[in-house]
Amino acid sequence: MTWRRPRFGCLSVAMLLLAILILVAVIMLRPQPQPQSGRLPADDLRIENAQLRPVADFVAIADPSARSVALFQEAGRVIQHPRCLNCHPRTDRPTQTAAMRPHMPAVTRGPDGGGDPLLRCSTCHNDANFAASGVPGNPKWRLAPIEQAWQGRTLGEICRQLLDPARSHMDRPELLHHMAQDELVGWAWHPGADRTPAPGTQAAFGALIAAWLDTGARCPA
Ligand code: HEC
Ligand code: HEC
Repeated sequence: MTWRRPRFGCLSVAMLLLAILILVAVIMLRPQPQPQSGRLPADDLRIENAQLRPVADFVAIADPSARSVALFQEAGRVIQHPRCLNCHPRTDRPTQTAAMRPHMPAVTRGPDGGGDPLLRCSTCHNDANFAASGVPGNPKWRLAPIEQAWQGRTLGEICRQLLDPARSHMDRPELLHHMAQDELVGWAWHPGADRTPAPGTQAAFGALIAAWLDTGARCPA
């Protein structure tokens, strides 16, 4: 007795292939989950070379003025990072994300940098980063005064402004303490959610600032 292929064989193989095809199509075409909280893709950027060069790297620069400028330029990688600039805008509105887009919702600095009396920063920004919503937080959360605006300025301009008593109310030891120790500044290395932290550590940054002051606090052109 010879084996005969059943007549419906071809048809059922075709049906099976069709079913697999439909399954694959359904899997590929199903809606993708939307990114949370409308964060810009720019915040996914992982900034390369996230470490700061140590002070020891600069000893080779014999001329103290040139060394001072080089130290400040390295510290400038922190100072001009979006984590710092977002709170040092040149308008009354903070900016957000690595792309430094205008803060949503629109908020304004108010009389003390802590927001309008009717919509304080602390309404949304609590004492610590809030993991569930991704809203950053710190007990001192507020905007830097307008005379300490950094956005749109060159590093040299920011440097001279830091040292100008008409715009900064901090003397040099206070500036150093603020950069190296202040916990609001320190937030930039622990920004929560998927934000890229400032490069290096606050301690390494403080050491660069201390060495910059020790070498005469020279500014880039
Ligand atoms: C109604 C709620 C709300 C108020 C009020 C508010 N914020 Fe925000 N803020 C947010 C949210 C939400 C985010 C996170 C947005 C994101 O990262 O996508 C944010 C992010 C920020 C960031 C960005 C941090 C970074 O580096 O990405 C800064 C700076 C900021 N706020 C400053 C302020 C300041 C200063 C005030 C007061 C003048 C204030 N905010 C008031 C909700 C608020
Ligand atoms: C959440 C907002 C916020 C963030 C983020 C922030 N700052 Fe500030 N910054 C302020 C406020 C507010 C002041 C005014 C402090 C004061 O007068 O005591 C200030 C003042 C300063 C000053 C004094 C400037 C001057 O001319 O005297 C320095 C320096 C400074 N910040 C450094 C930094 C650095 C570096 C970072 C990032 C690593 C940073 N800040 C991030 C809010 C912020």
